[in-house]
Amino acid sequence: MKYLLKKLTRKDKINRILYERLTEPLHLNILSLFVASLGSFSQKVEFDLVLRQQNAFCLLQAAKFAQSIGIESLTAIEFGVASGEGLLNICHLAKNVTQETGVQFHIFGFDTGTGMPAPKDYRDQPEFFKEGYFPMINKEKLLNALPNNAKLIIGDIAETVPQFLSTVTAESPIGFVAVDVDYYSSAKACLNVFLGEPEKYLPMTLVYLDDIGVPSSNPWVGELLAVNEFNAENAYRKIHPYPFLRTQRIFKHTRWIDQIFIMHTLDHERRSARKPTKMFVLDNSYL
Ligand SMILES: C[S@@+](CC[C@H](N)C(=O)[O-])C[C@H]1O[C@@H](n2cnc3c(N)ncnc32)[C@H](O)[C@@H]1O
Repeated sequence: MKYLLKKLTRKDKINRILYERLTEPLHLNILSLFVASLGSFSQKVEFDLVLRQQNAFCLLQAAKFAQSIGIESLTAIEFGVASGEGLLNICHLAKNVTQETGVQFHIFGFDTGTGMPAPKDYRDQPEFFKEGYFPMINKEKLLNALPNNAKLIIGDIAETVPQFLSTVTAESPIGFVAVDVDYYSSAKACLNVFLGEPEKYLPMTLVYLDDIGVPSSNPWVGELLAVNEFNAENAYRKIHPYPFLRTQRIFKHTRWIDQIFIMHTLDHERRSARKPTKMFVLDNSYL
């Protein structure tokens, strides 16, 4: 509650409520009050009533994808942890998703621990970020607050990802990756996490890109450039916006909808070698 009230004093949060929530139909906002007090966790996610809806949606959707192919455990990653608010949010939400779906999570947070590295060139948008921004000021406290299924991996992502990837298994494939590292060069290193054997991923792994919602964002810098290069360089792994997600949401005005992508594992055996078990015939109501 204290956390929520603190958030509500921030101008960007107030603006978000004004521009995103209060512009939605009144009856849906009234219905939200009932869901907030009586609804299940997934109903609250449907009504955008949890903090950091992007994480909640992705974790829940990844669990549903996993269930549909009989997978009981997933790996979830946050790249860029800073003081750990996002990572603890993911841990909290994942616990709720496990309670509702039975799908377990192993959660990993990646960070230098000392804040942003030095920007390399204009593609890292040095006009906005500087070496040392967002240090992990409370590492011990954060470590103590993490549940048993979560781990911090400290170091430059370019160096820590290859070793981490070798530990990911088909029993707990990567189902959700949140990228919040601000730079093109760091985002490029994050996306190498998708270059392992196909069974290390869901056929469709959820991806959240944090830094694409500002006016300076464009396909020639930052995370969008990293994604475009990733797609050009890899024939069987493609990162693409979640199709028609807005039409599937009750509240259409929230910005996080445009930040949700899917990493398609085109060489996953579920996509490339699946044999249909039954015949489908389409009816023709004109005949
Ligand atoms: C905006 S902060 C992350 C905020 C966090 N996700 C949250 O929601 O509270 C960006 C973080 O990315 C980390 N970062 C950027 N480039 C990195 C790299 N190459 N290796 C490791 N960490 C990096 C920085 O240390 C910084 O803490």
